[in-house]
Amino acid sequence: MPHIDTGDLKLPDNCTTLQQGLFDAIRSKIVQGYWATASQIPSTRKLAEELKISRNTVSATYEQLVFEGYIESRKGSGFYVSLELPDDYLPEHHSQPTALISSVSLNKNRAFAPGVPDLCQFPLKKWQRYVQIHASRPSILGNDDVQGCHELRQALSDYLSASRSVMCNAERIIITSGAQQALSIAAMATLNSQDTLLLEYPGYVQMDKVARLFKLNKHPIAVHPVTGLDINALLATKAKALYVTPSNQYPMGTTINTEQRLKIIKWAQQNKGWIIEDDYDSEFQFAHRPYTSMQGLAGQIGLDDHVIYIGSLSKVMFNGLRLGYMVVPEHLVARCNEIKDALTGDSPVHMQYALADFIADGELLRHIRKMRRLYKQKHQTITEAIEKHFGANIEIISQASGLHVTLRWHGGIDEETLRMKAEQQDIVVRTLNYYEPDGSNGRDWRGVVLGYGNTSLSDIEPKIAKLAACFAG
Ligand SMILES: Cc1ncc(COP(=O)(O)O)c(C=O)c1O
Repeated sequence: MPHIDTGDLKLPDNCTTLQQGLFDAIRSKIVQGYWATASQIPSTRKLAEELKISRNTVSATYEQLVFEGYIESRKGSGFYVSLELPDDYLPEHHSQPTALISSVSLNKNRAFAPGVPDLCQFPLKKWQRYVQIHASRPSILGNDDVQGCHELRQALSDYLSASRSVMCNAERIIITSGAQQALSIAAMATLNSQDTLLLEYPGYVQMDKVARLFKLNKHPIAVHPVTGLDINALLATKAKALYVTPSNQYPMGTTINTEQRLKIIKWAQQNKGWIIEDDYDSEFQFAHRPYTSMQGLAGQIGLDDHVIYIGSLSKVMFNGLRLGYMVVPEHLVARCNEIKDALTGDSPVHMQYALADFIADGELLRHIRKMRRLYKQKHQTITEAIEKHFGANIEIISQASGLHVTLRWHGGIDEETLRMKAEQQDIVVRTLNYYEPDGSNGRDWRGVVLGYGNTSLSDIEPKIAKLAACFAG
């Protein structure tokens, strides 16, 4: 629960008694929405010290606020802004920033929210030690290399060549603010406005946003359930670049095999174009060994000059870290650094050093191995729960990998109604339509994406049962 910083709370000048003045001041903060519901308010001792009034006055005021329903007392834990305010005093304005931010972040991480790893499983204590060591090194608190600290680039280079056969060295890696910044830099470094960029459809909306922002001429390539990207349509198209998620197409959960990968690489060569390969969650494959990255495959035949490889720490660590990376051909490094420099300058330095050590000490790999086992179990649990509660009404069309499943059904409830009903049960359902920013192109089935990364094993079945009830009713 967030703690409230009393900030500018002060007693009104003309109050009849201190207790009444304090009561009015706190009530006004709550009623106007500045103190969010469920937040913890300061202890009586702390507030008395801050306002330089007696603790008895604060205690009596809190009692009155509890009595009138503005705050709640929780035994042994303190006082909290009530979840349900008295009807007569609902917040006067609804644009209260703190409340809004906390509800947005909660929404984004709730049951079945896609793209969120199991946040409780991350070895935070260990990570904190790494961060603490580097945050207390004055020598690295200044600016660093805009490309990213060399230690981190070296650690990533070792990791990527070993695990994904990426053709790289530290000089070809650029550290970014999540994969998102890498996508923008890749687009800016290789495409001019009006150049054609091929996008998977349905596809990753965050890339569509980049294309729109830079006014690129975007052209969709269909991704079909189970069979995946329409390779023939792609090969018949001329374009400057293709954005692709070959290991686990987002959101359809299909994969591109080696033969198809080679065809696409040759296509890029013939077009003198680019492949922007987003390898966002390739570490989590449960059914088969992962395919070699497209960049690595291209490297084996001397064509890695046509591939920009992009990865993220959001899935293997946690989204809030906001660290990602790109591996680019040597001749593109300077241009990408120039763009990054103009956009954000260098990345948070002590975090980069902490991450470099975390990887070099084998902690990242240890965590990935543990999470691979857990996500495999979660995938199996959600699959069985869906079969049990939905029966033949729904089918899972995504492969066994990553942190989500993609569901398909025909007729019955529509995607948006299911989403809204689930919302009332505190369940996030991402409609397939969300990944089709230009319309559904006559799709005659319905679909949703459920993320199981941040839903605990024991919660999966009960939540699927609730979702099935929404689906049926
Ligand atoms: C397709 C795809 N690419 C990349 C990412 C990671 O993005 P970022 O590193 O900006 O969090 C995600 C996260 O959900 C994703 O779904």
